[in-house]
Amino acid sequence: MTRLSVNINKVALIRNSRGGNLPDLVKIAIDCEKFGAEGITVHPRPDQRHVRFDDIPKLKSVVTTEFNIEGNPTREFMKLVTDNLPDQCTLVPDAPGVLTSDSGWDTVAHYPYLKDITEELHAYNIRVSLFVNAEEKYIEAAAKTGTDRIEIYTGKFSHDFYTDPGQAVQAHIRCAALADHLGMGVNAGHDLNLDNLSYYTKHVKPLHEVSIGHALISDALYYGLQNTIQMYKRQLIEFQ
Ligand code: PXP
Repeated sequence: MTRLSVNINKVALIRNSRGGNLPDLVKIAIDCEKFGAEGITVHPRPDQRHVRFDDIPKLKSVVTTEFNIEGNPTREFMKLVTDNLPDQCTLVPDAPGVLTSDSGWDTVAHYPYLKDITEELHAYNIRVSLFVNAEEKYIEAAAKTGTDRIEIYTGKFSHDFYTDPGQAVQAHIRCAALADHLGMGVNAGHDLNLDNLSYYTKHVKPLHEVSIGHALISDALYYGLQNTIQMYKRQLIEFQ
């Protein structure tokens, strides 16, 4: 069964736009779980424009499903992660000022670095996932780092889905099967939405987890958070 991890960064963005604590990020995390989310994802960026560093311990103390912290493993980020011990840490190669993560690791070039970081996180019993583009060479090199999982970047798939879904998903089918063969779990994320999620889930196997933020929080403006989470979960359940 594919788990739905809700990325609550966009909720923090709204809160930060006014100062104060509305909407309350901790309450949102608790409610997402109550409404069916099987994980909570946050992506603390260096400028703290979304989730802030001081949100992390508060979220850690309430999340009962799976707490996933994602980001670029700078020393500051690594301290945040090892101080707060999430269930999973997703390593993402995003530059400090980037609007959103738009590419995975070059695991071939950064193999020794990623191996060291993975070992460091494993020493704290934190599951590691590496964000990668859907290219087999990156999956093969990822396996050598000792990572537990990969997260396949689905931004390009989501864009190409509207013109040729069959073509768009091909590389993802191959990469998920290869990761499975090499002993890694498979997550996926970026720009997944109610148009493309069921198609992706139906074709890409195994698929252990999807992490979804922007579209889900936007849909919640129309359908409400509880309905929206249920709608996304239905996409996952019906196509297993
Ligand atoms: N996975 C990673 C590594 C990300 O950086 C993001 C965006 O923060 C997501 C998944 C979620 O993407 P989206 O907000 O488009 O659903």
